[in-house]
Amino acid sequence: PVSTDGLHAKLPFPFGAAVNVNLIRNNAQYRNLVAKEMNSITAENAMKPAALHPSKDLYVWNDADYLVEFAKQSGKRVHGHTLIWHQSLPAWLENYNGTPAEFEQIFKTHIQTIVSHFKGKVASWDVVNEAFENEGGTLRNSVWRRILGDDYIARAFQYAHEADPAALLFYNDYGHEYGPTKRNAIINLVNSLKARGIPIHGIGMQMHTRYNQSDANLTAAITTAASTGLKVHISELDISMNPEKTQGIMLTPATAQLQATRYKFIVKAYNGIPKEQQFGITTWNVTDGDSWVPGFNGAPDWPLPFDKNYQPKPAYQGIIEGVQ
Ligand code: G3I
Repeated sequence: PVSTDGLHAKLPFPFGAAVNVNLIRNNAQYRNLVAKEMNSITAENAMKPAALHPSKDLYVWNDADYLVEFAKQSGKRVHGHTLIWHQSLPAWLENYNGTPAEFEQIFKTHIQTIVSHFKGKVASWDVVNEAFENEGGTLRNSVWRRILGDDYIARAFQYAHEADPAALLFYNDYGHEYGPTKRNAIINLVNSLKARGIPIHGIGMQMHTRYNQSDANLTAAITTAASTGLKVHISELDISMNPEKTQGIMLTPATAQLQATRYKFIVKAYNGIPKEQQFGITTWNVTDGDSWVPGFNGAPDWPLPFDKNYQPKPAYQGIIEGVQ
C-alpha cells in the first residue's frame, strides 16, 4: 500500500523520482526512502532501449519487471522512459544499415513489444525523448531520423497507441527553460502532432536546471507547456548548485536555503496550471549521493531534495511550501 506520511501525501499531484534498480534492490535506506516519499517512479536506465532490447531478437525484462513489482507492492505509479531516443541505444540499433522498410519494421516492433509487455502495468510513456538538438530548434540526426525521416516522431506515437490504447503518451525533452528558441520548437512540434490527430497526451519537461535560472524562463517553460492543453510532467527535475563546476566547494546553509526557494518557485508555478493537466513532478534521482550531475559535470553538486545520508534538505520544505 502507498505510504500516507511521505512528501507525495502533502502535494496535490503525483510526486516521484527516477530510480536506480540496483539501489532499490540492494540498499534498504534508498528503497525505504522511495517507498515512503514518492507515489510515482521512473526507471533511471532500466527501461531504455540498451537495457530492454540489447539485440534484434532479444528482450531483457528482469530489471524493469523488478521495478514494476516494487511499484506494485508499494502502491506507486510507473512512468515508462523511454521508447525512442538517440542515446542508450544498443549498438545493433545505433549502427543499423539495412533498408528503410526493414528499419521501419524494427522500429514498430521495438515500440510495440515493449509497450505490450508492460500493458496494464506502465500507464504512461516517454515515447520520444530529446528529438531536438541541444540548443535551438533543429531535429537531431539520430539513426531514427536519418533512416525513417522527420515523421518517425508521429509514427512512434501511433505505434505505441496501437499497442496500448489506454496509455498516456508523452513527448519528453530538456531546455524549455533555456529560452524561446528550443521551447518554441518543442511546442510547435507538439501542437502540430495534436492538430494532426496523432495520439499524444502529454509533454515532459525535464527541467535539469540551476539555482540561477531566471524566474521568467522557469515560468515561461511551465505556462507555455500548459498552453498546449496537454498533460504536463516535470519529468527530470534537479537544481544544480554548482553549474560553474567549481572544485572543492561545499553546500552551505545559505546555499541550501537558496535551493529551497528555487524548488518552491518551480512547484508553485506548476501548481498554478490547471489541475487536470498536472501529471506530476519527478526528480532525476533520489538523493545528492546518487545524482547523475556530479559525475556528468566532474564537480561537486547537491541538486536534489535529499542529502547523501537520506535526510531531507531545506529543498524538501521548499517543495511543500510551493503548494501552500
Ligand atoms: O551499465 C553500464 C556498465 O555495465 C558499464 O560498466 C558502465 C561503464 O561506463 O556503463 C554503464 O552504463 C551507464 C549507465 O548510465 C548505467 O550506469 C552508461 O555508460 C551511462 O551513459 C548511463 O548514463 C545515464 C544517461 O542517462 C544515459 O542513458 C544516466 O545514468 C542517466 O541518469 C541519464 O538520464 C538522462 C535521461 O535518461 C534523459 N534526460 C537526461 C538524463 C541525464 O543525462
